[in-house]
Amino acid sequence: MRIVLVGPPGAGKGTQAAYLAKNLDIPHISTGDLFRANISQGTALGVEAQSYMKAGQLVPDSVTIGMAQDRMEQSDAVNGFLLDGFPRNLAQAEALDEILKEGGVQLDAVLDLEVPEDEVVKRIAGRRICRNDSSHVFHAIYNAPAAEGVCDVCGGELYQREDDSEETVRKRLEVYHTETEPIIDYYRAQGLVVTISALGKVDEVTAKAMDALKK
Ligand code: AP5
Ligand code: MG
Repeated sequence: MRIVLVGPPGAGKGTQAAYLAKNLDIPHISTGDLFRANISQGTALGVEAQSYMKAGQLVPDSVTIGMAQDRMEQSDAVNGFLLDGFPRNLAQAEALDEILKEGGVQLDAVLDLEVPEDEVVKRIAGRRICRNDSSHVFHAIYNAPAAEGVCDVCGGELYQREDDSEETVRKRLEVYHTETEPIIDYYRAQGLVVTISALGKVDEVTAKAMDALKK
């Protein structure tokens, strides 16, 4: 299956993607995680991305599309993938269409996670991620690790993301509404969008998402 996950910052895309990718046996491809890995490794791509991310702005398409394409072309993604955070504007959606067309494949679904803004703010305020791998995501209250400050998955140190400050979150939400939401209509016109409420416990949302994807 080839799936795009969409939803505002803090909706739970990364959290759900981890379970969905496992259930569906496809890789979870998060452009945000790829950028953060590049930043922690100090690559040129990471250096370029960091200032945009810190400001809550989109990293330029010239950097992002090539990075996403490289990842989608790796051998584990030949039979499908779950995209999280890509595409994030219309130009990226059109580029993805081209990439899929060249490969003779299509998207199966666009899963839209709907969460009210006040909930998003609470989820982001308590989020803690792992120093070793930013796809290891916890929440101080809603999804607390067994030992405070320590990743349950790998024992790494948990910390608060640099772009999770109140000011940057406000900017990220604004960018989501102006740049990213239009892709939902773009995909709706192709009959691909399934919208679910992402309120409720993590496993309840996963069950709803699996149901929606089966249809
Ligand atoms: P990215 O890393 O993709 O961030 P985002 O889209 O803003 O989304 P988040 O990761 O903040 O939220 P999420 O939906 O994954 O929520 P999570 O599962 O963590 O992008 C970061 C930046 O990179 C961008 O701003 C941009 O600069 C750049 N970038 C990335 N992709 C790009 C692209 N394609 N083009 C250009 N630039 C790009 O959950 C949040 C919290 O809630 C966690 O603490 C979690 O434990 C908790 N939680 C999850 N589910 C529940 C639940 N059901 N109940 C209670 N708590 C829950
Ligand atoms: Mg995420």
